[in-house]
Amino acid sequence: MLKFESNSPSETHAIAKKIGAALRPGTCIAYFGGMGAGKTTFTRGLAEGIGFPDVVSSPTFALVNEYHEMGCISVYHFDMYRVTSAEALETTGFWDYPLKDSVFVIEWAENIIDELPQPMLKISISGNGDMPRTIVIEGDELLDHFGS
Ligand SMILES: Nc1ncnc2c1ncn2[C@@H]1O[C@H](COP(=O)(O)OP(=O)(O)OP(=O)(O)O)[C@@H](O)[C@H]1O
Ligand SMILES: [Mg+2]
Repeated sequence: MLKFESNSPSETHAIAKKIGAALRPGTCIAYFGGMGAGKTTFTRGLAEGIGFPDVVSSPTFALVNEYHEMGCISVYHFDMYRVTSAEALETTGFWDYPLKDSVFVIEWAENIIDELPQPMLKISISGNGDMPRTIVIEGDELLDHFGS
């Protein structure tokens, strides 16, 4: 388990960027944390750590945003805010996305708790508004040379 305190969006971004740089293809990242916790902010840093320019936006109205770039692990960024059952998940086509050579990033993972693909890096963000955030990362043994 890794635990971080973040006092600003840019601190969250910097923590996420280090995690992104250590990700292996085939990892599913599941966020737990309420509205405005900083999941999309974290994903921006994560994508930058993988090697993307600043491209990430919130997929709230799209279910999934895909990011592909030469030399980068592809990212599928899902927002499960409106997906609250296994049946609903099935109809989104979620199971057709290729996890093997990419990274899944799932906002509102609590909504599909029994359906989350493995191996999974669980990222819990607590705090909202202008409060500091506590970021707890479980499954960090999936990371490659984190912090080195
Ligand atoms: N330490 C912090 N880390 C991240 N975001 C912070 C922090 N402090 C304040 N914020 C603010 O919290 C908000 C986080 O928004 P963000 O869209 O990343 O959250 P989210 O969890 O994706 O929300 P949603 O549930 O609506 O998808 C931003 O407005 C950001 O400026
Ligand atoms: Mg979001």
